[in-house]
Amino acid sequence: MTGKKATGIALEEYEMLYQESLENSGRFWSKQANTFLHWSRPFDRAIEKSKETGLTSWFPGGELNIAYNCIDRHVESGHGDQVAYFWEGNNGDSIEITYSRLQDEVSRFANALVAKGVKKGDRVCIYMPMIPEAIYAMLAVSRIGAVHTVVFAGFSSEALKTRIEDCGAKVLVTADTVQRGEKVVDLTDRIEAVVDLLDLVVLVSDSVPESLSEAPVALYSTFVGEMSISHTPVPMQSTDPLFILYTSGSTGKPKGVLHTIGGYLLYAAITHKYAFDYREGDVYWCAADVGWITGHSYIVYGPLANRATSVMYEGVPMYPTASRTWEIVDKYAVTLFYSTPTALRALMSFGDEAVVSTSRKSLRVLGTVGEPINPEVWQWYHDVVGNGSCHIVDTWWQTETGGHAILSFVRDVAPKPGSAMYPFFGIKPMLLDGDKQEIMGKGEGALVLKGDWPGKLSGLYNNQTRFKETYLDPYPGYYCTGDGAARDSDGHYWITGRVDDTLNVSGRLIGTAEVESALVAHEHISEAAVVDKPHDIKGSQVVAFVVPMKEHDLAEDIVGVLKLLVKEEIGSFAKPDVIILVDDLPKTRSGKIMRRVLRKMLVGEFDNLGDISTLADVDVLPMLQEKVQTIE
Ligand code: WT7
Repeated sequence: MTGKKATGIALEEYEMLYQESLENSGRFWSKQANTFLHWSRPFDRAIEKSKETGLTSWFPGGELNIAYNCIDRHVESGHGDQVAYFWEGNNGDSIEITYSRLQDEVSRFANALVAKGVKKGDRVCIYMPMIPEAIYAMLAVSRIGAVHTVVFAGFSSEALKTRIEDCGAKVLVTADTVQRGEKVVDLTDRIEAVVDLLDLVVLVSDSVPESLSEAPVALYSTFVGEMSISHTPVPMQSTDPLFILYTSGSTGKPKGVLHTIGGYLLYAAITHKYAFDYREGDVYWCAADVGWITGHSYIVYGPLANRATSVMYEGVPMYPTASRTWEIVDKYAVTLFYSTPTALRALMSFGDEAVVSTSRKSLRVLGTVGEPINPEVWQWYHDVVGNGSCHIVDTWWQTETGGHAILSFVRDVAPKPGSAMYPFFGIKPMLLDGDKQEIMGKGEGALVLKGDWPGKLSGLYNNQTRFKETYLDPYPGYYCTGDGAARDSDGHYWITGRVDDTLNVSGRLIGTAEVESALVAHEHISEAAVVDKPHDIKGSQVVAFVVPMKEHDLAEDIVGVLKLLVKEEIGSFAKPDVIILVDDLPKTRSGKIMRRVLRKMLVGEFDNLGDISTLADVDVLPMLQEKVQTIE
């Protein structure tokens, strides 16, 4: 064990800034906006609230360009030769992308989009592996004032289609393949399935695949071809949309979370700086995918706004060996590393040897996000990966919060494994009980956030009714997170997980409804209920209860068939781990599935099912219990 490396914000400074951010929010955020960002026209005021919509505008009157803030100003101040990204390929190849090169690539792409008639406000869908072109595309789109919607490349064609349709994107930027360890995933079938919706497909590939020969496809190289590397960024209103990112809800279609330019960029930048105690000279690696909000805020916008040097990795953590992650840390002398409990649990399962055979002495801060981190993994991260000398920052946040909301970033307080601990500036967490009353001091309840912070979503794309219903109506006067949390006697926060019907699978939210509707799409399945069950490695396992139609003979491998259906409808990552055939589901008299009863059974609490007074038919319980016990 070596001594602790000094990092993080001092408690005194944190308390001072936090108080100021709540008591004098306008002044606080104006000051931060002028420190972190460049404005081509100063804003009139920091915050403007609308009583009608419940929405807040950040920095109205202000104009800025996000790509200028992330790239050009750094080149102008003499840092063009600084590396923005060390790109590390799946197979060990690598590319250094300096800020100058990033400016050239993004400008060429921006010019090409403009040449194709893409305008301010148009939606552009990006469906890409972790290659540099994904970042060029995001920044080129935002540079010209268009709006990107990035869809994780693990999603199926159906999921891609729903998102393209919902936001009305006419342009798709994509690639023919995704490299994941030994696997090469071909995306062309999925692209083919959506081309009818599009005017233009920009494809990263060596040649146009046969199946797309009739489609409006431009190869990336031809698309940017002879385009000039000079492009003047378009000044945008701070309140203009920047991107839409789809996230799962408990019911219906995925929700298009909308973020606007000024507030989002400031929040991504300031949280990136404070969470990781980012300093000049750091090498930072966020091991997420750009298809999720973590990639948006902490691979692209936050680090670039702060002129950070980042590692971007194309592949999987354990390929070709269980040491790959730590070898990359050594190769680039990474100082700040950001991962997920799922990835860490998987890495941990390979044993310490794969870690201790590497140095990792450059590391100073180790971050985690996505789900509650179990104390054993926290301890392993701290003792083995961090060699006992690094600060662990557990960051709780959501697609909707834009950036970190509760995080263990304070330096001089003993860490508590599993607790995210402190609210970020401007975040006022509160716990409400079953009667929607505020719980003071120690306690546990529904986690809500009072007030506003610049990263807060600016609504749901084209659906402000659903925005209100989901986030504002459940607890009037507060933003509803959908998570439960506890506050301990020191005032520190512990996230306990989702309280609504969403599943957290390896740090990705999936609506129960999405998986269920994929299952009932099978002609012999009448009903389905999907819940999650705690699991040592994955954090949680997805368990599906399906009710077959009575009068049909089921296929012998019905379980395999159903898994395939989910894979096709949503993506492999959403496949249930266990599928149980049952005669009926626990339902209320009004027909609502009581998933919490199933959840209790899965953890063996048959005698403690909670309030079952609304259950329509108690006779289903013994049958379900018997079935559940067979899987244990
Ligand atoms: C949900 C948001 C935010 C980036 C990744 C997921 C869970 C997230 C933590 C954490 C406990 C966490 C919550 C949250 N979550 N971080 N540090 N500790 N739970 O983004 O898909 O919008 O999911 O992930 O349940 O509500 P997302």
